[in-house]
Amino acid sequence: MHRQILIKDALLADAASISTGKEAAPAKSLTLSPVRSLRGELSIPGDKSISHRAIMFGSLAKGDTHITHFLESADCLATMDCFSRLGIFIERDFSEPGKLTVHGTGLHGLYPSHSPVALYSQNSGTTTRIMSGILAPQHFTSYITGDDSVNRRPMKRVMEPLREMGADIVSMNDDGCAPLKITGTPLHGITFRTKVASAQVKSAILCAGLSAEGDTTVIEPAVSRDHTEKMLAAFGHAPSVTDLADEAGHFAGHSVCVSPADELYSPGEIIVPGDISSAAYFIAAACLVPNSEVLIRNVGMNETRDGILRVARAMGADITVLNESHAAEPAADLLVKTSSLHGTVIEGSIIPTLIDEIPVIAIMAAAAEGTTIIRDAAELKVKESDRIAAMTEGLSAMGCRITPTDDGMIIEGGAPLHGAHIRTFRDHRIAMSFSVASLIAEGDTTLDNAGCVDISYPSFFEDLRKLGA
Ligand code: S3P
Repeated sequence: MHRQILIKDALLADAASISTGKEAAPAKSLTLSPVRSLRGELSIPGDKSISHRAIMFGSLAKGDTHITHFLESADCLATMDCFSRLGIFIERDFSEPGKLTVHGTGLHGLYPSHSPVALYSQNSGTTTRIMSGILAPQHFTSYITGDDSVNRRPMKRVMEPLREMGADIVSMNDDGCAPLKITGTPLHGITFRTKVASAQVKSAILCAGLSAEGDTTVIEPAVSRDHTEKMLAAFGHAPSVTDLADEAGHFAGHSVCVSPADELYSPGEIIVPGDISSAAYFIAAACLVPNSEVLIRNVGMNETRDGILRVARAMGADITVLNESHAAEPAADLLVKTSSLHGTVIEGSIIPTLIDEIPVIAIMAAAAEGTTIIRDAAELKVKESDRIAAMTEGLSAMGCRITPTDDGMIIEGGAPLHGAHIRTFRDHRIAMSFSVASLIAEGDTTLDNAGCVDISYPSFFEDLRKLGA
């Protein structure tokens, strides 16, 4: 027993000592001042969810996958590092940011240099959860751990369905969280109804299903982002997708079914569109700062992600969609101008399509006339931080009336915001949301640990400066 604990500690220490070259969140605070206007254009860095999956499926497929506009942020580099540890050769072309080639070895081709292998997912819940599904059917044992934030996030939501498939997956501190020990074993397909609409859960189960015996079906209560489904189709193994109806004809779940695959084949090239979740900060900033006009280029327009556009427009945002393209993942340019916003109600099936944008929507709501109510978003409590608590603390400090609820928040908009000291909780989306608030506040705003933007948007402050901030 004692020996086992020592081995565990050594493996996890080994995992945690891995450096991908971009450590998240240097402990630096940053002071931001209000601005008179924002003008110009910017190109949005690659989509985080799609970048993770490009590495994952590129690794699990036969053949080379050339990726362009890959997001070189801490989270995605963590995924890259995991696959390097699993024997995959990933070549970065340093002459062009975001250009790399994954030399995939096929669905059964992961070979770590030793078993057990220790993996470190840093701050990335997506890496931790989807990797669990990928590792469960392997022929070796893995440990996966993350930073303090990841190791507090619920993992039972993936452990339970994977166990139902036959997986041997254990929470090492017996608290339903990472570190996880995953002893590879043969799996069988299941039909699983998830309580939460979560693309991470859905993707973990579908990835495990690729190597299981029989079909694997996930039924979600609402449609979560479908990048895994789209990516599987691009790699020659499209899942079948149906909306279920009850006897009265009402929506009764979104079903995604994957059959076991003999092999996945690389499409050769993946072009990652810009991340709409990153664009959201500039959509909000351009709406809120007076006398602004910003052209945001190359924004991913996947309809399972575009809730921010629907809500911003419902609040009165002046957004024009230009230059639409329709590749595997649709994209467009967005022209956003200063707008006078009003409150709205955000609830129900739109929530999964804007879950990561709720912090910045809360900033828009604080500046809008009237009340905004956000419901059905209890998931916010288990993101990189408790985002209901973080937004309540920060917005209250800036002079906004905000009431947290069990599954969202109520924001009384229209009161002038004033600068404050904001705790980011090392959560990139909290840091970027309050950066937007600082642009329209009276006086300076200080963010602690502002470097956490590296998790999804390393050039965020540089891009903000380019527009005049
Ligand atoms: C993600 C899914 C979402 C999102 C996260 C990225 C993904 O989480 O919040 O930032 O890439 O699958 P959930 O699926 O848990 O809602």
